[in-house]
Amino acid sequence: MDTDIIASCLELVAERADDPAPLVFQRLFQENPEIEALFVRDTAGLVRGEMMAVTLEALLDCAGGDAYAVSLVEIERVNHVGLGVEPEVFDTFFRVVMTVFKEILGDDWTDEMDAAWRRVLARFPHALT
Ligand code: HEM
Repeated sequence: MDTDIIASCLELVAERADDPAPLVFQRLFQENPEIEALFVRDTAGLVRGEMMAVTLEALLDCAGGDAYAVSLVEIERVNHVGLGVEPEVFDTFFRVVMTVFKEILGDDWTDEMDAAWRRVLARFPHALT
């Protein structure tokens, strides 16, 4: 089941990288420098950590199939416009999370994991484009 595959993937990532959030945001900001300014008040990285945590929870929920998180993400896309985060940043962020996790795991990133992540991200039509 995709939930188990994604969950074991997250465990492996946590073993290898401890806290992957700084790596993910570093990559996000490299690709989209304008997003970094939105976190200017987040000097200690707490908001970034929280956004990472809720994102992983949402993706895990989606992997389970019966996803409340698809609606949650749609709502947060709208809410975040008021915070300066454009809706498509969510797709970019999901894709960057997958890419960075894949890099962290290197040869241990399996075809099974790749397929499970792709199925989850496919719930969000623009995340894989
Ligand atoms: C399901 C996913 C997400 C949830 C549930 C969520 C939830 C929240 C909540 C509750 C806040 C605080 C609201 C407020 O201060 O008015 C917030 C703030 C924020 N979020 Fe998210 N978020 C999500 C994903 C993201 C993503 C993907 C990004 C961008 C990469 C992002 C960027 C921000 C920013 C820049 C702020 C404002 C920080 C500040 O004011 O210092 N969030 N989010």
